[in-house]
Amino acid sequence: MTQTLTIARPDDWHLHLRDGAMLQAVLPETARHFARAIIMPNLVPPVVTGADATAYRDRILAALPDGMAFEPLMTLYLTEDTDPADVEAAAATGLIKALKLYPAGATTNSASGVSNFDNVRPVLEKMAEIGLPLCVHGEVTDNDIDIFDREAVFIDRVLDPIRKATPGLKVVMEHITTKDGVDYVKSNAENLGATITTHHLIINRNHILVGGIKPHYYCLPVAKRESHRIALREAATSGDARFFLGTDSAPHTDPNKLSACGCAGCFTATNTMALLAHVFEEDGALDKLEGFASKNGPSFYGLPVNTSTLTLTKSDSATSFPGKIDTPDGSVTVFDPGFPVHWDVA
Ligand code: NCD
Ligand code: ZN
Repeated sequence: MTQTLTIARPDDWHLHLRDGAMLQAVLPETARHFARAIIMPNLVPPVVTGADATAYRDRILAALPDGMAFEPLMTLYLTEDTDPADVEAAAATGLIKALKLYPAGATTNSASGVSNFDNVRPVLEKMAEIGLPLCVHGEVTDNDIDIFDREAVFIDRVLDPIRKATPGLKVVMEHITTKDGVDYVKSNAENLGATITTHHLIINRNHILVGGIKPHYYCLPVAKRESHRIALREAATSGDARFFLGTDSAPHTDPNKLSACGCAGCFTATNTMALLAHVFEEDGALDKLEGFASKNGPSFYGLPVNTSTLTLTKSDSATSFPGKIDTPDGSVTVFDPGFPVHWDVA
């Protein structure tokens, strides 16, 4: 028996597309299912000015295969040198939809991130004034903080003070991984949303570490204990409009993942929508999938919901997803949920 579900075409509110050959290889995986995506600026060197964002957007559009429609929603990487006037100009033309805050050293290519938050206050004030959201990688990087506590400590030490000092600033807590993150969003009515990844709805830290180390499940923020995964599932499937999909699909080649110092990132662009249908059905919340993947994000960003649609089908036989995407730089392994999935995009 085949079951179908048609939803407004989804968007991805946190995506890594990289550049060059990798961009060319991974872009179709997203554009096949998603109408738009918030494009992370952590290239080497990072996308820091309006001019950088224009050039990167043009490279993305040039890499888009003929016949595919996709709108990249550009972001700038917030540094201590970011110029409020450049931000204002890039937002006024509609080029950029957010700024991205990486605490220095938090994750892949974050060396240019912010160390002293006082130095970015004028930019944050400007963003609050013009309604431009700040996307936040919410982890402290202090050596004395346990990696599993980095998100909770960030909320207390960095995020809450920033939000109090800059009332009116719209903030997206990206790829939340803890019940602390869920609770912080729920307890703050104004100007705060959170993205949740597909993989954090599926794996906990045991999946990474039990029975041998699984580098393809390693990403940042790292998956936490099961009680946190359950809190994320409840938030995503609740229908609460403050939670929406940001896959954080982050391609790294297999040699870079399967190394003595492996890169952080799960590549989920290919099978995210099928996996989400599985997850939402398992929680008796298929009717909430459209809100999470297609409606809550546009509502937070003040953008229209896509008028085109995406249809998912469920069949008796398990879906076979490609194990890898080939790129000239090397293969990229597609996230394996570890259980059979019967949903697929029609
Ligand atoms: C991202 C990447 O590879 O760029 N990695 C990840 O584990 N999510 C960076 C990030 O978003 O933290
Ligand atoms: Zn990311």
